[in-house]
Amino acid sequence: MKLLSRSEYEEQTASTRDERMGWWREARYGMFIHYGLYTHTGRHEWVQTQENIPVDEYKRLAAGFAYKPGSAKKWAELAKAAGMKYMVLTSRHHEGFSLWDSKANPYNSTNYGTKVDVVAEFVEACREYGLKIGFYTSLMDWQHPDSWMAAVESGARARFNQYILDINTELLTQYGKIDVLWFDVSSPMEHWEGWNSVEINQKLRAIQPHIIINNRCKLDEDFGTPEERIAAEDRDWEACMTFNGLSWGYVDSEQAAKYSYNAQGIIRMLQRCTAGGGNLLLNVGPKPDGSIPEEVVAPLTEVGKWLEVNGRAAYGKTVKVARRTYGGNGICSTSVIGNSVYLWNWIWPFGGSMGIGGYKDAPKAVRYVHNGAPVDFEHKGQRIILKNLPEKCPGPEAGITVIEMEFEKLPQYCFASYYPQLNGGREITAERI
Ligand code: GLC
Repeated sequence: MKLLSRSEYEEQTASTRDERMGWWREARYGMFIHYGLYTHTGRHEWVQTQENIPVDEYKRLAAGFAYKPGSAKKWAELAKAAGMKYMVLTSRHHEGFSLWDSKANPYNSTNYGTKVDVVAEFVEACREYGLKIGFYTSLMDWQHPDSWMAAVESGARARFNQYILDINTELLTQYGKIDVLWFDVSSPMEHWEGWNSVEINQKLRAIQPHIIINNRCKLDEDFGTPEERIAAEDRDWEACMTFNGLSWGYVDSEQAAKYSYNAQGIIRMLQRCTAGGGNLLLNVGPKPDGSIPEEVVAPLTEVGKWLEVNGRAAYGKTVKVARRTYGGNGICSTSVIGNSVYLWNWIWPFGGSMGIGGYKDAPKAVRYVHNGAPVDFEHKGQRIILKNLPEKCPGPEAGITVIEMEFEKLPQYCFASYYPQLNGGREITAERI
């Protein structure tokens, strides 16, 4: 195959990006699965380095590899019920243990413990539930003899680059159509040249031309990956979030529950991602036997039920809400899809009415999203006042009602000033003291 230079390669991937990213840009919400040998320690996926465990000692964990066949189906079932549209599995985390039948890496799940090709089960389960399929693939490998030497020794680097190409080639050839390749932690090399990323990614794309690749291989690629923070970027982006702010890998359920998200917390993250035009990849760390920790099931299911009736405010091609545009009012936040501004009501207002400032044009209709019922409103100056609201939050799920304000075309908007007297476009013209 004729290899392109970096700029040619990036031009080419940019030219196919809109087409490749179509589904992803509307999907909004996916499930990250962190599962591996670290799971079996219940102490964070970095346990091997954080506790300085020698490789030989750590590798003994493999004998107890406990994945129970059929678990991946449960993951996908929950993801579907949660309203998620895709899944990303840690096919091989930094520890180097592959979760598939790998020739390049015999340290894999088909050779130890319950001996299962977890990746094969995962792929089948995603297909069964209509979810897009992503593979997380670490660029580190703590058990590979060349991995850390690769930064300083050219022979080790050549072998390690080849290994990275080989394992990812296996992943992209053995399991049919794969939608996302999610690289992680490009250490020890510092530059894309060291990783040979342009060549490796070209070869991988040649196998799956429609694939979407993230930016953790020292190339910008298709999307950014803010981690543990929701921060809109000037490009496609996906915020990946742990469920408890502590660990991606499994930690004791009973103790983790106190730190974990509830449905409201997840819906708030979804709103922030939607408003910023990004996706939310929410992590679940299954237990050693592959079962899903109790503390994630109820919130995810509740969010799924909420999305069933309110999904219109979250899925689809969003209009990215720039800072100071299309705001809410403190007790509600917004997302914008098409010509509609959606108000996600965190707190239901007292007194039967609520105003939203800054909207210079009147909506043509205002309605509840969960049942389509109209909401009375009035447009005054640049305020939209919603009227005759029920006393209690009318939304059936999670206590969060969404109201859609549909406009002829997106309205002119005026950001609230510090002084309500100045709203409406009047400015202080004299010099301030
Ligand atoms: C990281 C961590 C890791 C986790 C990942 C998820 O950078 O090394 O353990 O898998 O990000 O985004």
